[in-house]
Amino acid sequence: MNLFAQQTCSDLADPWHVGGLALQGRALLAPMAGITDLAMRRLARRFGAALAFSEMVASDERGRDRRESLLRLQGDGVTPHAVQIAGCDPAQMAEAARRAEQAGAELIDINMGCPARRVTGGAAGSALMRDLDLAQALIAATVRATKIPVSVKMRLGWDHDALNAPELARRAEGEGAVMVTVHGRTRNQFYKGEADWAAIRATVEAVKIPVVANGDCRNAADARKMLALSGAKAVMIGRAALGQPWLVGDIAHELAGAPRAKIAAELRRAAASEHFETLLQNFGESHGLRHSRKHLAAYADQAARDGFAVDPHARRRLVESEDPREVRSFLHNLYAAPRKEAA
Ligand SMILES: Cc1cc2nc3c(=O)[nH]c(=O)nc-3n(C[C@H](O)[C@H](O)[C@H](O)COP(=O)(O)O)c2cc1C
Repeated sequence: MNLFAQQTCSDLADPWHVGGLALQGRALLAPMAGITDLAMRRLARRFGAALAFSEMVASDERGRDRRESLLRLQGDGVTPHAVQIAGCDPAQMAEAARRAEQAGAELIDINMGCPARRVTGGAAGSALMRDLDLAQALIAATVRATKIPVSVKMRLGWDHDALNAPELARRAEGEGAVMVTVHGRTRNQFYKGEADWAAIRATVEAVKIPVVANGDCRNAADARKMLALSGAKAVMIGRAALGQPWLVGDIAHELAGAPRAKIAAELRRAAASEHFETLLQNFGESHGLRHSRKHLAAYADQAARDGFAVDPHARRRLVESEDPREVRSFLHNLYAAPRKEAA
């Protein structure tokens, strides 16, 4: 029996449109470098995420032929295939967009929200919010390079003195972007404080294209509040989906007024195992094991939060293990029993 067969998105009626793409449900998986690998995206989509973005692919030459960069470009059946690119040179962005299109991308997202100095130092990511003319030129070059729709992900602004997301979104719309996502923090906040969902509303009111609200959405109650305060079309979920790729779909179902039952233990186990095995396949055993550790730790920690018994010793071994058999055995036992409450 296909364990995943019950997870369809048929309850998520009322599609909305981004460019030519019809999306089901109002919850998207955020692009996260080192996290939203192909396996994570496939699982999130299968569980009902409207869209799952790839990890960021740098548009400069250095990243071009690296195996990992290629893996990030691949959709391998995950559809719609949404690839995020980052860079600060219009010609390179155009080239990256063409490469993504050749790799089967159906949507290209431009990263104008990443606060990392590694990215902003190269005047890409959120640094572009300090240079809207360059940001606009990058969007224009990307839109013209391919036939596929282009979206832009940004923050509220560089800092609280420059909340220019509405202006950047207007320029993006003017150049033909079909959607923008706004993380409700400024660049200078990095991940500190709380995302300001109400502040996203100024961008919603500035454009006609759909705006997606992002930042600190952990559950359906957050998502509802986020939509109410921002007026956004949909929510995007990042960190909270780690260790629970079904979360985005859970939230989409709740928002659609069709809440579903808690994902069964055997389905959780099948998802975590599939994730692990796909990483081994895609990256090879040694690198795959290392790459999988943050996911494995997150599956274990989320299982504990959800009331399953998680052996602390095995949890520690899990993030050190060099042996796939040990990991498989841990995953086999994960979600097997509820936690015994202390008497
Ligand atoms: C580990 C990690 C990697 C990230 N990588 C990217 C990225 O490649 N591109 C991007 O636009 N945002 C990236 N982000 C930001 C997220 O997409 C999202 O905007 C942010 O985490 C806020 O949403 P959340 O509170 O739901 O996690 C990353 C975030 C994290 C935690």
